Parts: sequence; structure tokens; C-alpha cells
Amino acid sequence: MNAGEEKFWKIFFELYEALPRQGPGDRDSTAAALRLCRELPPAPDILDLGCGTGAQTVHLAELTDGQIVAVDNHPPFIERLDATLRGAGLQPRVRALVADMAAPGLPEAGFDLVWSEGALYSISLERALPVCRSLLRPGGYLAFTDAVWRKPGAPAEVRETFELDYPSMGDVESVGALLQRSGFEVLEHFTLPDEAWWAEFYEPMSEQIERLRTRHADDPEALEIIEQLAAEPELHRRYSEYYAYEFFVARTRQG
Ligand SMILES: C[S@@+](CC[C@H](N)C(=O)[O-])C[C@H]1O[C@@H](n2cnc3c(N)ncnc32)[C@H](O)[C@@H]1O
Repeated sequence: MNAGEEKFWKIFFELYEALPRQGPGDRDSTAAALRLCRELPPAPDILDLGCGTGAQTVHLAELTDGQIVAVDNHPPFIERLDATLRGAGLQPRVRALVADMAAPGLPEAGFDLVWSEGALYSISLERALPVCRSLLRPGGYLAFTDAVWRKPGAPAEVRETFELDYPSMGDVESVGALLQRSGFEVLEHFTLPDEAWWAEFYEPMSEQIERLRTRHADDPEALEIIEQLAAEPELHRRYSEYYAYEFFVARTRQG
């Protein structure tokens, strides 16, 4: 990693580590997706992949009587989640681990439900779905959010941003087809409402960006990176008609 990249990631994590969550989502959407997993056992074994600081992990703990393992490959996120779990008295029912979701080192067929909000894309859905399937028991559920195109004709600024961040981003149909090919039956999907982008993600992000602008006021290179990061909520404000976060709920197909 060169010095410029190193600086980008330093500022990026300074921003993201301070947020209540690291992607769009909210408790109501988590609860709605969970209700679609209709035949879960009373105390399911749940795996939350790419949990970040664990906003949805805590919601899952509140909404179920299950045992939860939450995994992220960024150690400071896991340290913060650990502190949250200790504070809320949720250990040992919920465990937070530093691991790579591509090879988490967890037992095959060990879970009733694999959850992931805004994270599977990090290793591409093509790689992630077989990993999820191998971790699920027969009849197990997979619930995840993923960015999808809503309609064609997105302006160049939007297309260029996603070509950098998520070049293989598809639409609802292509994700559904990939789920089918990966051994899942799609039960339902729904679009996250716009509030789920703002209340716990872009609004706190915008406040934190103001703080970073003040903190780094005498560092032009840092300020440039901060403006790059500030462009994301602005892009969403202007162009959200072209893309969405979709919650997919699927179940392993037998045979
Ligand atoms: C967009 S954030 C979403 C975090 C959280 N689920 C939420 O909605 O607030 C994606 C998360 O995936 C994690 N991540 C990226 N690649 C990963 C990998 N290979 N293994 C585990 N976690 C990964 C990142 O560290 C980050 O916390």
C-alpha cells in the first residue's frame, strides 16, 4: 500500500469507526427480514458476516433467543462490538470474532441462519453465497442486503462510483438468479426504505465529517480525502432513484 492509500484508509476508518453502523439499515428492516425466516428453531444458531460494529448483531440478539457469532475482518470494529456486548450483558450468547468471511474457520452446516447486512459484496456474491451455503444446516436461511440497480440509465457520476466500489453490482433479477444457481430458493425480497440510509448512517456520517473537517483543517491531503468520503451521502441524495439496498431472504434448496 502506498502512502496515499494508507492515508485514505486511516481517514476512512477514523470516519467509519465513529458511526453507529457502517452501512444502510435499521432495526425495523432487520426485524422484517427475520420474520420472513418462518421456520427457525426457537433458539437458532445465527452467524452475522461482516458485522461491523454490530448494530444488526445487537438487534438480532434482542429479537431472538439464539446464539450468535458475529464476524468482521477489521479488529477495531470487533473490539467495539465486544465492549457493546459486555455493556449489554449479551456475552456469551453473542460472540464477536475477527475473521475473513471467505474462510471464517467455523463449522460447516453449523448454523440455522446466516445474516449479512451490506457486507457479502466485499468478497463478491459469487464467492460469498457458496460459503454461506456450506455454513448452513439443511433448510437453513440466508438473509442479506446488497446494493442493486433499480433501473437503467444512471448518470455517469453514479456508474463511475459503483464501477470503483462494486463493479459486479447487479439488479434484483440477477441476484435472484445467482441465489438459485448457488443452491438457494428465494423466499422474499424488499427494498430498504430511504430512512434506513439516513437515520443511522448518512446523518451521523455527515456530522462526523464536519468534525473531521475541523480536526484536519491544517492538512490539505486529509481534507481532500474527507471531501471524497463526503460525496457518498450527496450522491445518494441526488441519485437514489437509480440504486437501492435490497434485503434478500432465501433458504437452502434440498437436492
Ligand atoms: C458496509 S459494512 C457493513 C457493516 C454492518 N453489517 C452494518 O450494516 O453496519 C461492511 C463490513 O464488512 C466487513 N468486511 C469486508 N470484507 C470482509 C471480509 N473479507 N471478512 C469479514 N468482514 C469483512 C467490513 O470490515 C465492514 O465492517
